[in-house]
Amino acid sequence: MESLQRVIPTGCSSMDKLLGGGLAVDGVSLVYGEAETGKSSLAVQCAVNTARMGYKSLFIDSDGAFSPRRLSQIAYYDSEKVSPFITLVKPATFEEQGMAIDNLDAYITEKVGLVVVDTITSLYSAELGGSGKTFALSRELNRQVACLAQIAKTRKVAALILSQVRSVLAETRISVEPVATRVLKFWSDVVLNLKHTGQPRVIKAVLEKRPKHKSSASCYFLIESSGICDYRQRS
Ligand SMILES: Nc1ncnc2c1ncn2[C@@H]1O[C@H](COP(=O)(O)OP(=O)(O)OP(=O)(O)O)[C@@H](O)[C@H]1O
Ligand SMILES: [Mg+2]
Repeated sequence: MESLQRVIPTGCSSMDKLLGGGLAVDGVSLVYGEAETGKSSLAVQCAVNTARMGYKSLFIDSDGAFSPRRLSQIAYYDSEKVSPFITLVKPATFEEQGMAIDNLDAYITEKVGLVVVDTITSLYSAELGGSGKTFALSRELNRQVACLAQIAKTRKVAALILSQVRSVLAETRISVEPVATRVLKFWSDVVLNLKHTGQPRVIKAVLEKRPKHKSSASCYFLIESSGICDYRQRS
């Protein structure tokens, strides 16, 4: 097996171009956006490509929404070969998510290339209801992402964290999302915001942060049954 490459390609060429080849294997990439902007599809696609490179992925499914059907659609011709390379962990509480992240150091071998947390804020948000817990929960979220960032750097794996945000219009008066988003962005080397465009299945990806690139850049992609792929705009 060849040594781990510098990046894990998403398989969507416009996205790979935007990201400088794909997900960096020694850092945290944050992909955030509204519901149904293709975050999970992108994560599954990266796990499939990691498997095709001969490396394993750990998929922390905090939303409980991982779909084996979606995986076989995306992996398509070699889904049976790819599936054993993806280990699913399903935390039921925010504390369990923290434990899964804490255990990564022991789990990660040289054969692991990618860790996904889909989505990193769902269990956090679910527990925010209780009064007086906001500070402790935010501190724990910060700890979890810091831990991921350290593991990504020291163990040379790609950490892909997903987060769902509501549209500005749908935000309630007192929203905690900005706090979580600030924490996630702080620890992330790459930040990608996915947005609906008004055209069905066409998504705009805006690169908000990337080392060595000061200006923001963007691309469009299409969500297909086979995953995310290039969208060619008609002029
Ligand atoms: N099996 C499928 N076949 C075809 N299209 C699909 C399939 N699964 C998902 N999609 C399309 O991809 C879109 C995005 O799905 P995906 O689950 O990747 O989004 P998401 O950003 O993770 O959403 P959420 O925030 O709700 O988790 C869906 O709205 C749907 O149109
Ligand atoms: Mg999702």
